[in-house]
Amino acid sequence: MKEIPGAKPYFFHQENNISKEIKKTLISGNLSQGKNIRTLEEKTSKIFNTKYAIAVNSGGTALEICLEAFRIEGKEVLVPTQTFIATANAVIRAGGKPIFCDIDPKTGCMDINDVKKKINKKTAGIIFVYMFGIIPESVIKLKKICNRKKIFLLEDASHAHGGSVNKYTVGGIGDAACFSFYATKILTCGEGGLITTNSAKLKKRCSTIMSHGKDSNSPLFVYSGNNFRLTEIQAIIALSQLRYLKKINSHRNKIARIYQKYLNNDLFYTQLILDKKSKNTFWRYPLYLSKYISRSALQTLCAKKHHFRITWMYEPLCHQQPVFRKNIKLPNAENIIRRLINLPTHLAVKSSDAIRICKKLNLECKNLYAKNKNKKSPSFR
Ligand SMILES: Cc1ncc(COP(=O)(O)O)c(C=O)c1O
Repeated sequence: MKEIPGAKPYFFHQENNISKEIKKTLISGNLSQGKNIRTLEEKTSKIFNTKYAIAVNSGGTALEICLEAFRIEGKEVLVPTQTFIATANAVIRAGGKPIFCDIDPKTGCMDINDVKKKINKKTAGIIFVYMFGIIPESVIKLKKICNRKKIFLLEDASHAHGGSVNKYTVGGIGDAACFSFYATKILTCGEGGLITTNSAKLKKRCSTIMSHGKDSNSPLFVYSGNNFRLTEIQAIIALSQLRYLKKINSHRNKIARIYQKYLNNDLFYTQLILDKKSKNTFWRYPLYLSKYISRSALQTLCAKKHHFRITWMYEPLCHQQPVFRKNIKLPNAENIIRRLINLPTHLAVKSSDAIRICKKLNLECKNLYAKNKNKKSPSFR
């Protein structure tokens, strides 16, 4: 039996149009800044409900460009400690100082109460990460706080293409948003990223930074920028999936509902609490294991006996990584990160696979729990 991997990018084998479009582009010789980039920007700005979208060469550079455009030099930016390191690195690279915030275990996203404590006169803004594609209502509260304090809200939507909460679409909630098109993401072109915003001023600054500092209305160079552009062929690949975004997300939600329904044993698992008005994207399905269940033993059993992969990520947390190593305690994040597992939701996971995954997980968790439940202080990894 072939193993179900933790992530699998969108399949292209049915996409004859991609090869036709790529061939056309190669023959035309227009490999950069042509009609495919323009179409990608127009279509994504419609889908993410913003005035502007700018295609760039990665999610990390999207963050860096935005933060440079927000002019954070010498200022503090609040970031969740549970995120990919790119979120925090971008702050440093743009000349700012990342201030790490704790996590709300119910959502896996930033803890608003910790954020409130950490805002001060030096705070330029906040980066909110939709962890694993969970879109909590707390982001709307955060938007109000940012408006009141006159600081920016930047959405790191690398896991959340096509998500929404209440009447708000991810990408248009903050002052700007950044998406990644990396190989494992919901939309991918191998490497790539996108910035969305409603601000003409910010759009102009971002366009200048990413094009060697060229002024958008003249041939002059007005800033020390660099080249952060996406290519035409990458845009064709991204566009080919954009048409299926709703289908991709409804598949991921269908698989997530199966996990929610069948992994309901409180002794083994703690599920996240999902807001009713959210349309989550479930880049991965996150779940916390009981402290009596060894995560690595479970991973081995699932891979060897049952042919599916459970994964976990972002450990050590950002504030514990050598690049930052802050001597601070963020207790919620430090507690949950040891117990986190992610289940696959990608298009290669069928409903029948998801049901089988749940049955096997329940079985193995039952055995591992029984083996360890009498241990006084289990410290499984
Ligand atoms: C939350 C988050 N932010 C930023 C990034 C950076 O994106 P990229 O790998 O496209 O640079 C990633 C992804 O890999 C991510 O998961």
